[in-house]
Amino acid sequence: MKLTTSYLGLELKSPFVVGASPLGDTLDSAKRVEDCGASALVMHSLFEEQLTSESAAVASLTESIEESYSEALSYFPDSADYSLGPEDYLNHISRLKSHLGIPVIASLNGRTPGGWIGHAKLMEEAGADAIELNIYEVPTDMDESGADIESRVLEVVAGVREKVKIPFAVKLSPFYSSLPNLAKSIGLAGANGLVLFNRFYQPDLDIEDLNVEPKLFLSTSSELLLRLRWMAVLHGKTPLSLAISGGVHKVHDAIKGVMSGADVLQVVSLILRHGPQALDVLIKDFTRWMEEHDYKDVTEMRGCLSHRNSPDPAAFERANYLRVLQLWKV
Ligand SMILES: Cc1cc2nc3c(=O)[nH]c(=O)nc-3n(C[C@H](O)[C@H](O)[C@H](O)COP(=O)(O)O)c2cc1C
Repeated sequence: MKLTTSYLGLELKSPFVVGASPLGDTLDSAKRVEDCGASALVMHSLFEEQLTSESAAVASLTESIEESYSEALSYFPDSADYSLGPEDYLNHISRLKSHLGIPVIASLNGRTPGGWIGHAKLMEEAGADAIELNIYEVPTDMDESGADIESRVLEVVAGVREKVKIPFAVKLSPFYSSLPNLAKSIGLAGANGLVLFNRFYQPDLDIEDLNVEPKLFLSTSSELLLRLRWMAVLHGKTPLSLAISGGVHKVHDAIKGVMSGADVLQVVSLILRHGPQALDVLIKDFTRWMEEHDYKDVTEMRGCLSHRNSPDPAAFERANYLRVLQLWKV
């Protein structure tokens, strides 16, 4: 069975990639996911704040930081709390590259254009095969429009393109008013792929201590549905490589991901919950399912349930919406 897949111009042995997470933080765990079949590994993100707080520390020797800025910085963990600082991160890319046979994708997380983007070049020089640019932000400014936010995203994308020759994907949140249009603009700004989606970590409220409690739950398959919808919308309309990140746990999730149009399925929660062996089981189940259903390769299956074959995708979505509401009987 041919599982080979092209993603960001990289030839991968299967669509199963280990997504950005602590799973690449040690050589031992990176080797274990490779041994269990991962076709590429995305490292955890290096954050804009890690790169700019170093510059801010230097700046603080010569000038006082504005009150509001130092308050904003206090929301972030100390640089010692991040698992790898910027220098260590680059060394870790080289270490992973010399010990793994699979492509290593470095991850940069930020939201504003700025000098930190230059770090993409250092990641390339350290040997990263590709970069994942993780754009994470929650809009809170009443005066900033959706168009303002999108043009900032595009500036960051163009900034990374200017710095590196290696391919890079943009990991987005689902909350944009027209994802297809943004996807097109991201491609024109120079990105090679899109990852759908970033997960929003939704803090809970502690009503006794009057505090906000950060919470990180591992995903379940229910999160896949949002990804399937948007993957089906984008497949066949863009030259960008497309990855699903979020909710791939079972063989049917993986099959649906490819049928909706994904080139690659990124997996994290499954492995964090059950260990790297669960990835091996998933890939074997996936291969068996394809054999049983007479598919000769993943290309044959890819996108068969996308909007590609729908003459009027918007009407199709409206019709499904009406149908699902009318199905409910009291
Ligand atoms: C412990 C943990 C750490 C993560 N760290 C990162 C990160 O550094 N950068 C990033 O883009 N995504 C990060 N993610 C998100 C994952 O890459 C992935 O998008 C998300 O977990 C959804 O995939 P899943 O359903 O397979 O878990 C992290 C997720 C977890 C659970």
